[in-house]
Amino acid sequence: MKKIAICLASVLLAGAALSFSGCGEDKKLWQHYKDYFKIGCTMNYGTQDIFDDIAGEFNSMTCENEMKWVALQPNEGKYNYTSADNMVSFAKEHGMSVRGHCLAWHNPLALPGWVFSVEGEDGKPAVASYEKVKERLVTHATEVVTHFGDDIYAWDVWNEVITDNYTEDDTDLYRLDSQWHTVAGLSGALSPDERNAVNDKIEDLFIATFDAARKANPDAKLFYNDYFANNQFKAQKLLTVLDRLLEKGCEIDGVGIQAHYDITSFDWEMLENLIVQISARGLEVQITEIDFSMYDYNGDIALYYHEFTEDMAQLQASCFGKAFEIFRKHKDKITCVTQWGVADDDSYLHKIPVAGRQDWPYLFDEYHAKKPAYYAVIDF
Ligand code: GLA
Repeated sequence: MKKIAICLASVLLAGAALSFSGCGEDKKLWQHYKDYFKIGCTMNYGTQDIFDDIAGEFNSMTCENEMKWVALQPNEGKYNYTSADNMVSFAKEHGMSVRGHCLAWHNPLALPGWVFSVEGEDGKPAVASYEKVKERLVTHATEVVTHFGDDIYAWDVWNEVITDNYTEDDTDLYRLDSQWHTVAGLSGALSPDERNAVNDKIEDLFIATFDAARKANPDAKLFYNDYFANNQFKAQKLLTVLDRLLEKGCEIDGVGIQAHYDITSFDWEMLENLIVQISARGLEVQITEIDFSMYDYNGDIALYYHEFTEDMAQLQASCFGKAFEIFRKHKDKITCVTQWGVADDDSYLHKIPVAGRQDWPYLFDEYHAKKPAYYAVIDF
């Protein structure tokens, strides 16, 4: 693994030059990147107005939660677009196009229980069949993509299906903790041959969703989205999954690399390699959820920093700077880079993995001032 080295000098010089001379102050972040790719952020319904002052830095927006299944179809056939439509209007007013996130995700926070349940013969809830679940999936994708129409230029069709298992068994592809996979027959007790047959059924679900989204909006780019931070095994499994899906004629246009990183373990070589490997399959890449936390996500939950020190700021700047250097180098492969949040005053990382823990993951601080990381990103 190649970790980033602290490169204070260039960051300090870039930050100082730009902040003290005023040079470049009027240019928005997306304008620095207009010949490269879109620059996005995520926002939430109800707090988007907090970011009125800096929304113009971005030209793409993803709703953090408002387009997830539970938000749009909390009960079968009862769609609720109020918050999402409001966010789309906000984006348009601020010159941002909109990424759709996400049609299907296993996480119970995003997926209502009714999807996997039917009324049994005795009137009590029973487990829905694979066919019923597939029908609901296709209906949801069709309805939702049709509703937003041309307001959405790219959809994350499926989110996070690949297992985190560190195994080289190339039939061990899909996560066990997903009801989508369970309904197709996946369990930990299968032989590789049995698992292969189940993988086909799981992939039929994916392919049906991509097909439905394509039919509902032929112009939107369709993505598979997942996290791979520093996990070489998972990256390898992604490539296997892509090869399988492409061979089966799946209507996929690209891969979203989430890029939730932390400042202590950024493996930029792996990131670059992944971008190249995805593109070699003829697919587009979008960086969909980048941030640089101060903490290792799976690390010590008792660790708590009370202040964002100068050392942290500089290390984060070199991480962001290095990541964007790679993105610029591969601008022929990448069409959008989205930061998962806007500024340090509001972040999912203040809630998970540890509730109430301070973190400073973004390019803008809690007062919406540009951080050293911002200056590192525009230093080219
Ligand atoms: C994943 C999901 C996002 C968001 C983040 C943070 O990355 O794709 O929608 O929920 O987790 O919680």
